[in-house]
Amino acid sequence: MSAFYVTTPIYYVNDRPHIGTAYSTIAADVLARYHRMRGERTRFLTGVDEHGIKLERRAKELGQTPQTYVDSMVPPFKEAWQQLGCAYDDFIRTTEPRHKERAQAMWRLCRERGDIYEADYQGLYCVGCEAYYTEKDLLEGNLCPIHKKPVEVLNEHTYFFRLGAYQERLLAFYEKNPQFVQPEGRYNEVKSFVREGLRDLSLSRSTFSWGVQVPDNPEHVIYVWFDALVNYISALGGPKRPGEPESPFDTFWPPNAKAVHIVGKDILRFHAVYWPAFLMSAGIEPPTQVWAHGWLTVDGQKMSKSLGNFIPPAPIVDAVGADVLRYYLMRDIAFGQDGDFSHQNLFARYHGELGNGLGNLLNRILASIVRKTLEGRVPVVDRGELLAIDRALLDTAQASARNAARQLEEVHPNRALEAIWELVNAANKYVDQTEPWKLVKQNDTQRLSQVVYTSLEALRYLGLMLWPFMPQKSSELLHQLGFDALSPEEGVDLWPDDWGKLPGGIETRPGKPLFPRFEKEQEAALIAQLAPKPAAEASVAPAAAKAPSSPAAAKPVVARDLGEKAATNIDVFGQIDLRVGEVTLAERVPKSDKLLRLEVDLGPLGTRQILAGIGKHYAPEALVGKRIAVLANLPPRKMMGLQSQGMVLAAGDGDVLSVLSPANDVPLGSTIA
Ligand code: MSP
Repeated sequence: MSAFYVTTPIYYVNDRPHIGTAYSTIAADVLARYHRMRGERTRFLTGVDEHGIKLERRAKELGQTPQTYVDSMVPPFKEAWQQLGCAYDDFIRTTEPRHKERAQAMWRLCRERGDIYEADYQGLYCVGCEAYYTEKDLLEGNLCPIHKKPVEVLNEHTYFFRLGAYQERLLAFYEKNPQFVQPEGRYNEVKSFVREGLRDLSLSRSTFSWGVQVPDNPEHVIYVWFDALVNYISALGGPKRPGEPESPFDTFWPPNAKAVHIVGKDILRFHAVYWPAFLMSAGIEPPTQVWAHGWLTVDGQKMSKSLGNFIPPAPIVDAVGADVLRYYLMRDIAFGQDGDFSHQNLFARYHGELGNGLGNLLNRILASIVRKTLEGRVPVVDRGELLAIDRALLDTAQASARNAARQLEEVHPNRALEAIWELVNAANKYVDQTEPWKLVKQNDTQRLSQVVYTSLEALRYLGLMLWPFMPQKSSELLHQLGFDALSPEEGVDLWPDDWGKLPGGIETRPGKPLFPRFEKEQEAALIAQLAPKPAAEASVAPAAAKAPSSPAAAKPVVARDLGEKAATNIDVFGQIDLRVGEVTLAERVPKSDKLLRLEVDLGPLGTRQILAGIGKHYAPEALVGKRIAVLANLPPRKMMGLQSQGMVLAAGDGDVLSVLSPANDVPLGSTIA
């Protein structure tokens, strides 16, 4: 049996999950679920990229060790993927020993092949990308084309990888494997990049230490991209040591499996040029395919914290559920192209395709007809009595299943959903045309049974085909039809291909609408609440987030001031993320009598460094272990050279001041509303 292996990029932990990273992860999950339900042996890997100068610097800014910092940033990823229904089999962290030792093993293999040598490196480096640039790649003013920030000039003794020596082998490999990179346009870009010639790649750094140590040279750490790319095999136990017993690497890496890397177009070069070259050098087969999807923009602009248009998935999931966000992302954006994220479009698809299309189909057959007139049971029918109109729907269902499967095999989730919706639309039209409610009135039970059965079969097809995209809604739909939740098994193909599998006589379980309507005002309020908020800060008087030199900053928040403010509404409050946290460390900021540096554990949100202007009222020791209220979605700001990542809520004025605390020990990270 062939095996299927799908991976996401491993995400840098300096950003929290957002809809861009969610997009890659959901796409990989959809593919994994699809292959799993086809009965294939399937493995889905995601994880985080924890090394490199970017993360080392960020930790320093926060006054933390890199390890403490990265440890605190991992839970939000795991939590987000769980909340989005992304059922990965393994989550790799590049700081884990299992990874570090395989990254070193890979280095040794390349070195033994004679592909690693030492020399002086002089060049340009973007810390945001963790990538080398040549002058011709840069924007005016030596700015990185992606981060629009000045690149740094490096001048150090490093190890190099003989990438130049792989030009011909890579081109020959591309020639032999026309499907290696998708979409095709991107493949052409990769090929012309390689045809222009490849320069050897600096493969180590010696001016910082946060990385995997170069074997036999503690002065150097391995270049973060070499380290990161190895995750795809280290998580499987590769590269294997001589004589090692059978491991997932044997099952899930080519030639024994189809291995597909889902990546954003921004990191294609690393995956389609460097990675196969490293693998060739180590004597390991390249992956089967690298699929580069496009970028999600917000109002046409790249998402970034500084632009204030950074969209985390959690509030959308809270508002409409994970499956709706999954559906929207997979349907609205053609895989491989850029797409603009819009809450309005999300709601339009919710009401249109999901509510009026799929939800309504289920409701009009199950709740209105089966429950009321057929005692809630699937009718028993004779296939020989199907009319042409019934057969036409049957044919559409078969075609829809075939097309959707083909599109998923070829990694076109949006086209697969289009194929599935051909059946949703055809089934609704079928119900309009066959008018079962009239058959009820006419007491034509035999024809009614045929029509109902045919419609329910279409719904069964839909329930199954939607499982990769909307696992929860698919289970609810199948449950209402009288089926148990899908549980894929190796060797068992659950994709629908056979009309008539719905057993006549079984009891259905009509339930709540799959996609209940939002009233217009409710929808407008949700859209306002979910919109990116550039200036969340402006609406709350900051106790600690402002520089202590400003008199307003010393004056702590809320109670008394609130009455003096203009009336506001609940939506404004909804924009504020207030959380319960526990102070794990408190100390005075040198040269300041007001500022305290706190480390506050916000549970799933991780530990934050917060500077609070409460030093005249609190001894640091008195705060350690205390549960407090924190404003958690302020953009970070610097005070006295230290970053503050939130604000502590306190009541009072210049003379009396009390930090707010919940009366009972609610879990860390609980929202305050
Ligand atoms: N750590 C590297 C990847 C190493 S893989 C061996 C990295 N990490 S990243 O955190 O910057 O995120 C990488 C991926 O996140 C992108 O390639 C893409 O898959 C996804 N996205 C990040 N922002 C995105 C959008 N705005 N839109 C779509 N995907 C985006 O690079």
